[in-house]
Amino acid sequence: MQSKVLVSKHIYREAVDFLETRFELDYHDSDESLAPAALEARLAGKQGLVCQLTDKITPELMDAAPALKVVSNVAVGFDNIDIPAATARGLIVTNTPGVLTDTTADLAFALILGAGRRLGEAERYLRAGKYKQWRIDLLTGWDIWGATLGIIGLGRIGQAVARRGRGFNMRLLYNDPVRQSPEVEAELGIAYVSKRELLAQADFVTLHCALTLQTRHLIAAADLQAMKPTAVLVNTSRGPVVDEAALGEALASGVIAAAGLDVFEEEPKVHPRLLECENALILPHIASASVATRARMCTIAAENMAAGLQGGRPPHIVNPAALDRSR
Ligand code: GLV
Repeated sequence: MQSKVLVSKHIYREAVDFLETRFELDYHDSDESLAPAALEARLAGKQGLVCQLTDKITPELMDAAPALKVVSNVAVGFDNIDIPAATARGLIVTNTPGVLTDTTADLAFALILGAGRRLGEAERYLRAGKYKQWRIDLLTGWDIWGATLGIIGLGRIGQAVARRGRGFNMRLLYNDPVRQSPEVEAELGIAYVSKRELLAQADFVTLHCALTLQTRHLIAAADLQAMKPTAVLVNTSRGPVVDEAALGEALASGVIAAAGLDVFEEEPKVHPRLLECENALILPHIASASVATRARMCTIAAENMAAGLQGGRPPHIVNPAALDRSR
C-alpha cells in the first residue's frame, strides 16, 4: 500500500510530480497556509508531511497524527518545528541545506550594499519626484570596499558571505559558539573575536545563526549600543534573533546608521517603528528566492520524504536520533 503524504502549501511542480509517482498525495495547492485546525484534520492518516516555515509543527499536532513518520520542511531553518518533541516521538524531520547557501549569501550581501549605500531610500526619493538637482551630499552612505565585516554565525551561509566580503577587500571578523579550524580561518582570511569586540569594530554586522533559545534577542538594546554609530546591521537569519523594538529605537535615534532586514519577529508583520525608519531596508523574507534555488529546495524536500518513508536515511535529516525510535 502506498504511503499517504500531505503537502501543506503550494510547491514547485517538479516536486509534486516526483511525490505523485511514489505516494498517495493530498496537495493543498494554495499560497495560503492551512489554519492549525485544518492542518490537523488534513494530516489524519498521513505518514508524511511536506511543510513550510509558515506551518507550526507542535507536539499537539504530532500527537494528533499518530501515523505520521516524516516531516519534510522546505527550508534550511526548522525553528517552526519542535525538534525535541519530534525526536521523542520517533518522528523524522528533514530540511534543505546547501542548495540555498549562495543564493542567501548573495541577498545578505545585497543588503550590506543596499543598506550601506541607502538604495531603498534613494529609490523612494527618486520615485517621489524629489530629485531636482545633483548635490554633493545627496544620500551619502558608507563605503563597503575595505570596511570591516563582522559575521555572527560562521556556518555554511556565514562562510559564503565571508567569501563575498573578501571580494570587496573587507577585513573579516566572526563570532560563533563553535570556532572554526585554523585552516578554515586562514582560507577565509577571517579572525575569531568575542561578540563584544565584533560589535565594537565592525562597520557591517551580518547575522547567520539559527534561531534557538540561546540566539533569541542575541542583538538587543545593549548590543546595538555597543556598535559604531556609523555601523549597519544585516539580518537574513530569523527575525527573533534581533529585538525589533530596540532596533527601531536605535535606527530612529542614530545609535546605528542603518539596517538591512529580510526577516522579522512576527512575520509577515513588521514592527511599526521599523516601517517608519527611512534607514531600514526591509524585504519580505526572500533570501533564498531565486527561481532555481526555490525549485531545487522543493525537489530536495520531496527526495527527503521518499528516503524517509521508503526505509532509507534521508539525505538531510535534522534529528538522526529519531531513526532509533522511528514510529
Ligand atoms: C528560509 O528562511 C529557510 O530557512 O530556508
